[in-house]
Amino acid sequence: MAVKILAIESSCDDTGAAVLVDGKILSNQIAGQKVHEQYGGVVPELASRAHQENIVPVVDIALRQAGIRKEELSAIAFTQSPGLIGSLLVGSCFAKSMAMALNIPLIGVHHMQAHVLANFIDDPKPDFPFLCLTVSGGHTQIVLCESPLQMRVIGETLDDAAGEAFDKSAKLLGLPYPGGPLIDKYAKEGDPHRFKFPEPRIPELNFSFSGLKTAILYFLQEHQQQDPDFIKNNLADICASIQYRIISILLNKVLKAAQETGIRDIAIAGGVSANSGLRKMLEEYGAKYHWRTFIPKFEYCTDNAAMIAITAYYKYLHGDFAGLDAVPTARAAF
Ligand code: KG4
Ligand code: ZN
Repeated sequence: MAVKILAIESSCDDTGAAVLVDGKILSNQIAGQKVHEQYGGVVPELASRAHQENIVPVVDIALRQAGIRKEELSAIAFTQSPGLIGSLLVGSCFAKSMAMALNIPLIGVHHMQAHVLANFIDDPKPDFPFLCLTVSGGHTQIVLCESPLQMRVIGETLDDAAGEAFDKSAKLLGLPYPGGPLIDKYAKEGDPHRFKFPEPRIPELNFSFSGLKTAILYFLQEHQQQDPDFIKNNLADICASIQYRIISILLNKVLKAAQETGIRDIAIAGGVSANSGLRKMLEEYGAKYHWRTFIPKFEYCTDNAAMIAITAYYKYLHGDFAGLDAVPTARAAF
């Protein structure tokens, strides 16, 4: 009998629902939350309230679009961790109620593992073992993946995540939250080598972005003293130069990881992997170092429920179910 999974994602400020049948995604709905823009970041309480409003219509549309009745479902999956606890609670309570009402299994999914497995939604898929650079608003990790459900973090950020580096840089430039996509947009018109920002020397496969943020702050203060319109007049070049440095910090560590492990299947995942500069430069590194590179489709990079569904599918095949007493947690290792 076909495996039909409804997956729910509510870890941060996007409410997602997706339907998967036998490993194929049939629908992938997402409702964003504009309410946070005016605050320059996600306000947790407002996020949970918006999830409560969005979750019923989003699930309803996902099921209708997939042409699946809820009575046909084999299991309900939800994001269990990590994330904002209030947001996770909305998704987990909804998933539990639905699983209980339909008398079908429940599957708890780790959000960061799901970002990695977004690379398994479409073909071609990476071979095991492969390395995945997982870069989001809260995480920056190099993950060594041995099988769909066996992953090990071999490098991570010691301070800010790459997404935070984008968003905080954008804030210094006066751009609204989330600034990552805007830096990407302006960088397309700019010269990435016009301004030089430092690349930190961090041991092993770890990352650090806090020094870059400070360097950008001083750089802007210094130039604005001479020209109050410095940002306005040089926005594209500043964005391109910041983006170039963030990407080179990321990819130079991936290169080190590839050389140390001998692995040549390299994937990226997470919100920052939607960045066009990162996608392009990964291809360039791939051509130069003879890697096979894997980049999920744009809509599977930022938070989405399709990645929760594909992870849940592997868990379903392994009989890895959650009880109704499963609790969401803000932080959790794989
Ligand atoms: O994975 P994600 O959607 O949510 C988290 O789990 O954090 O990642 C969100 C992060 C934000 O920091 C956002 O600015 C960044 O991904 N982001 C981008 C781009 N699109 C999203 N950063 C740079 N360029 C983009 N095109
Ligand atoms: Zn995410």
